[in-house]
Amino acid sequence: MPKLKVITFGCQANELDSARIAGVLARRGYTLTEEDADADLIVLNGCSIREKAEQKLLSRLGTLQALKRAHPWLRLGVAGCLAQREGEALLRRFPFLDLVVGNGEHLAEIPQLLSIQAGRQASAVCEPAGLFPEDIAVHRDSQIRAWVGVMEGCDNFCAFCVVPFTRGRERSRHPDDILREVIALRDAGYREITLLGQTVNSYGKKLQPPVSFGALLRRIDAVLDRQVRVRFTTSHPKDVTPELAEAMASLPSVCEHMHLPVQAGSDQTLERMGRGYSREEYLQAVAMLRAAVPELAITTDIIVGFPGEREADFEETLTLMDAVGFDGCFAFKFSPREGTPAATLPDQVPAEAKATRLARVFELQNQLSLSRNQGLLGRHAEILVDRALRTREAGLVAGRTRQNKIVHCQASAGVPEGGLVNVEITRATPHHLKGILIPSP
Ligand code: SAH
Ligand code: SF4
Ligand code: F3S
Repeated sequence: MPKLKVITFGCQANELDSARIAGVLARRGYTLTEEDADADLIVLNGCSIREKAEQKLLSRLGTLQALKRAHPWLRLGVAGCLAQREGEALLRRFPFLDLVVGNGEHLAEIPQLLSIQAGRQASAVCEPAGLFPEDIAVHRDSQIRAWVGVMEGCDNFCAFCVVPFTRGRERSRHPDDILREVIALRDAGYREITLLGQTVNSYGKKLQPPVSFGALLRRIDAVLDRQVRVRFTTSHPKDVTPELAEAMASLPSVCEHMHLPVQAGSDQTLERMGRGYSREEYLQAVAMLRAAVPELAITTDIIVGFPGEREADFEETLTLMDAVGFDGCFAFKFSPREGTPAATLPDQVPAEAKATRLARVFELQNQLSLSRNQGLLGRHAEILVDRALRTREAGLVAGRTRQNKIVHCQASAGVPEGGLVNVEITRATPHHLKGILIPSP
């Protein structure tokens, strides 16, 4: 049986696409391997969001080129947003590649591309056509957590971002198809379902008739019991509605966590980014969510050094972080991406200023995360036991709370992966919590 290895770069959308690649090829007899040296086909599923993401893939490709010299039967492919963006230019630049394929619905074409005689390059990277990849089988490697795509693409065209070019226009999956997948996952014993979309809470606007994201959550919650958690990512601030806040407050399956990228704290920077909300509107959205869901954990993304960001603008990012008290934050130096408006804006920020600002964001976030986590000391929380989080220490169990916080605790009796257990939080660091198991009554 031929062996496949898929190497994923980028966000959860690419993780889901990698599961689709594995699913499509499993139907053609491929089994998965972790070892480069065992593989007959290696697909690098690439991300283009920042220059660094692209470089990571390219350096891996260099190593694999050497392996291919030693294993002439090995076929190498590049897929995903990076392939979508670079297209056939990749085949010219790397003549040893066998295959270039985009993302989403293009992945269904992989078997056809592979049927082209070995040694002859093949590619499928035209514009994302706007279909939801409904028929593509998904190979899931966890039995506990599953991603479910609910929308694809993005229409926002933020000035810095390649996603609208790599993933195409915003399109939503029919709720009946989503429900069918959710029910199948429930019946297979999955414990956590994460609904995915580039701006997941913009879901459903273009459906006929339109379906709001809150309404989708309600339909999903109605088919689940208390044993299954629902998460969703990534939310866009402009589409945080009272209906969504109300749905989160009232639906037992929906976890108390929202990833809500703010990007910057100054109105001028937000405006130049084309984000579609002001600092005040962001803060109002947070206040509304917290009023409805007092336990809500909020995480965010921040870009430092966007063109034209002055020291005073950057200070406003810090004051906003402080005002919200984020539970966590991913922060990035602005990376100019060819073809996006921000790449050619005047007043690009020098590299040293970006580095200093990034370090200040991390430093502040460490303090904020610690103080948010210290607020949980002595509290009780339910964790979903997750083997992937477990440390090497014997007898230690790790899991995530509904707020998506990692908790380590000592467990004398065997606690199974996928089990839901209650813990009392006894220690807090910026990045995780420690707890003791509370015996179930
Ligand atoms: N759809 C999400 C973001 C998806 S991209 C949203 O609108 O919030 C994930 C993160 O990568 C972004 O939130 C942003 O912080 C970062 N990012 C995107 N393009 C970038 C660029 N050109 N330079 C640096 N960071 C970038
Ligand atoms: Fe990119 Fe903006 Fe769309 Fe997010 S909302 S994917 S940052 S264009
Ligand atoms: Fe990267 Fe594409 Fe995700 S560019 S961040 S893999 S949508």
